[in-house]
Amino acid sequence: MSLRYVVQNGDAVLREKCAEVTKFDKDLAALLADMKETVRAENGAGLAAPQIGVSLRVVVIDVAEGFFELVNPVIIAQKGEQVGEEGCLSVKGKQGVVRRPEKVKAEYRDRFGKKHKLTAEGFFARAVCHELDHLDGVLYIDKADTVYDLPAEDKN
Ligand code: CO
Repeated sequence: MSLRYVVQNGDAVLREKCAEVTKFDKDLAALLADMKETVRAENGAGLAAPQIGVSLRVVVIDVAEGFFELVNPVIIAQKGEQVGEEGCLSVKGKQGVVRRPEKVKAEYRDRFGKKHKLTAEGFFARAVCHELDHLDGVLYIDKADTVYDLPAEDKN
């Protein structure tokens, strides 16, 4: 496992539509291990592969409900609306207010290629939506009602 550099807004890889994973192999396991190490070191709620320069549909989410590895994830249903604050490890020093569904259902594969479903609500649903957007080259600042600078002492 190794800690990976998190690319910042302005890097072209963050704007690409990522490719589906087709090989559920050791390389995928190594990518997931690096993503887990990196998201924890950065105290993030989630991380998408393009944020470490890999244009593949792979996401990790680290929330109160648990640690999730989502490969080729797709949102299949959504309900309601929530308005709340959001940040991104690739947009350092900023936060924004973003509207998201209150509840989402998603389908994904695990590292072995097995299909699963999850249901997420509240902050977990927000994290799923935010990370899945990364796989299509979308950043929260594209959708935010407002984006503002964090005070200098809070910048990460
Ligand atoms: Co992000």
